[in-house]
Amino acid sequence: MTTESPAAAAYWERLWADGRRYRQLGDTEIRLLEDHLRPGRARPALDLGCGDGALARHLEQLGYRTTGIDCSPSAVALAAADQDSGPGHGPVWRCMDITTDDLNALPDRAYAVITSRLVYRWIDDKAAFLDRARRLLAPGGLFWVVTEISGRRADTDPLQHLGITPAEAEILTAGWSVVHTADLDVLRCYALRP
Ligand SMILES: C[S@@+](CC[C@H](N)C(=O)[O-])C[C@H]1O[C@@H](n2cnc3c(N)ncnc32)[C@H](O)[C@@H]1O
Repeated sequence: MTTESPAAAAYWERLWADGRRYRQLGDTEIRLLEDHLRPGRARPALDLGCGDGALARHLEQLGYRTTGIDCSPSAVALAAADQDSGPGHGPVWRCMDITTDDLNALPDRAYAVITSRLVYRWIDDKAAFLDRARRLLAPGGLFWVVTEISGRRADTDPLQHLGITPAEAEILTAGWSVVHTADLDVLRCYALRP
């Protein structure tokens, strides 16, 4: 992997440090997620590629004891700088690469909910990423993945490359006992259970 690969921490770090921001979490998307969530009751939740931390903070508000991880130090610093996230308040933040770092460095061994929003598209080895997420999921837990899918934008749209291909969608949904999807304009939300 070169440092120019989208999967590389250096690539994302440069974008975050340069002020790049991503599609905000909206009310409709939150409602779609909440359709699949049971009350948090202080159970552990994990957001993979948390960026500025909005989704992790939302899980925390729903009663989950949440950890947000991202490979970009600037993204993690931004997430941690949020006023509600001081020590003892809000999610725990870790700068980690989900594809390579030791998962034992995480605060919990198993998570009732794992989320990953706008990240799957950028992972080089998707099957390995999914294996690692599966290993972290508690029995009966929810893996919530939000990604753009191909074919939703006009052929001339320069952002067409943001969508995952049907083959990549198949890799994502293979091997789960429950798969639910919900569409939100160019995005598809996947609720996956082992
Ligand atoms: C398009 S942004 C989305 C950020 C956030 N999830 C959101 O919805 O706003 C993709 C994020 O995934 C992170 N990321 C990409 N590959 C990663 C990896 N292998 N391990 C951890 N984080 C990763 C990037 O640093 C970036 O913050």
